[in-house]
Amino acid sequence: MKFFIDTANLDQIQQAKELGVLDGVTTNPSLMAKEGIKGDAAILAHYKKICQLVSGDVSAEVIGTDFATMVKEGKILADLAPNIVVKVPMTADGVKAICHFTSLGIRTNCTLIFSAGQAILAAKAGATYLSPFVGRLDDINWEGMQLIRDIADIYTIQGYETEILAASIRNSRHIVDAARSGADVVTCPLSAIMGLLDHPLTTMGLEKFLSDYNKSQA
Ligand code: E4P
Repeated sequence: MKFFIDTANLDQIQQAKELGVLDGVTTNPSLMAKEGIKGDAAILAHYKKICQLVSGDVSAEVIGTDFATMVKEGKILADLAPNIVVKVPMTADGVKAICHFTSLGIRTNCTLIFSAGQAILAAKAGATYLSPFVGRLDDINWEGMQLIRDIADIYTIQGYETEILAASIRNSRHIVDAARSGADVVTCPLSAIMGLLDHPLTTMGLEKFLSDYNKSQA
């Protein structure tokens, strides 16, 4: 399973990169706004910085909601760097745009996925990645991870090549469950990635090893 970081924060991307396990980055308009980036020129410049920082795929989302605007914006985004993946929402125009990008060889990430039916449409359109939002389903008392399992089953049966990118990941447990459920990629906040390191027995064990070593040096 590939690890993407779900942020537009350059420091956090750098920290995940330094850990050595980072395969890519996902962003969305809310994450870009959180970094205080204002205006289209600044947004495009920020995407370029992210693409220079990581060699893996970087998802950059279109803002337009009609086919023509999505295609226009997607081409501008795809021209920024070879590792850009154009993120497109699951709507009728979005599916049309994904089909169009697929025919041009432009890679896509179909976002805002909340059902298996949407996942089938995105795969038929040729999306490179599919982003089911686990945490937001949990928020409304649905079992987000069940959607990952359902899509993984369907994609295996049908032989679809679209990669399942588990998104809206809130904690380290979600990462483990996504791996078990058949996700090809997980995109998560830095805190969830770093949380995988933690176990009290690891901390206690290391303290004991160091203390015993220090006694042997006394
Ligand atoms: C990723 O591509 C999504 O935009 C993101 O994971 C959404 O996460 P959220 O539900 O925490 O906003």
